[in-house]
Amino acid sequence: MDPRDFPMPSPTRLPTLRERALHLLCESDPERKARGTLSLRAGQGSPAETGTGMDIGIELDLQADPQHAIPGRPARPELRHHTQVPQRSPFTPEGHAALIHAIAHIEFNAINLALDAIWRFGGMPAAFYEDWLQVAAEEAKHFLLLRDHLATLGHAYGDFPAHDGLWTMTDKTRHDIVARMALVPRTLEARGLDATPPIQAKLRRIGDAPGVAILDILLADEVGHVAIGNRWYAWLCAREGLSPLPHYRVLFRQYEAPRPKPPYNLQARREAGFTEDELAALGEL
Ligand SMILES: [Fe+2]
Ligand SMILES: [Fe+2]
Repeated sequence: MDPRDFPMPSPTRLPTLRERALHLLCESDPERKARGTLSLRAGQGSPAETGTGMDIGIELDLQADPQHAIPGRPARPELRHHTQVPQRSPFTPEGHAALIHAIAHIEFNAINLALDAIWRFGGMPAAFYEDWLQVAAEEAKHFLLLRDHLATLGHAYGDFPAHDGLWTMTDKTRHDIVARMALVPRTLEARGLDATPPIQAKLRRIGDAPGVAILDILLADEVGHVAIGNRWYAWLCAREGLSPLPHYRVLFRQYEAPRPKPPYNLQARREAGFTEDELAALGEL
């Protein structure tokens, strides 16, 4: 079933938060996706709408959907394997724009991963949906900030090829909410905490003060996203009687997650709620 064919509720019933998240996930126009996500948060709606146990009750067979309706995305950027994306020096105008474009693409995928968390996993507490709606709206803000900054460099979103690591892991963990929380926010987004200060140092060297300021906003918000991942991973482990650290190692290997790369941003990771045991284990994964 193409998720765009998912029937909207009758006019007598307001669509639920999860239904609206699904429709935004399928939206292929970046501007409409980002603005719609911001509006969804702004008009969050009544507790009944975000309440528990709303199982949308559809199973998408992504294998049977060669058009990959999820996530909705524009025709460009062209997606390539990460080894096939050219590495450019940020010290050239093209390379500078390509770097900002790469981060904008990560943020575009991050909107999708947050919307996917909202619609895909039913029966969670209302706070879970509120947290992921906050993430989705902040990712939309990040995407728009970077898209606008890219325009000042003479480029648009879609001008450079991009890789899809963040979405690939989101898709791989679609059947396991514990793996999703373990490996997307608190592994891939946590790698972003480590990567941001070195990128800011490069931008400072090329005199891109607005870019540095945008990444300050991103870093502060991303600490919150990783914290949300940590909160729900801990909650799910407690519910399912799993021991968080050993189970994380199992998931990390099972899903072939990318290793964290030093230098680690230990301050940001601590603020995001990683324990000292978890931080000590980073180098042993
Ligand atoms: Fe972000
Ligand atoms: Fe994020």
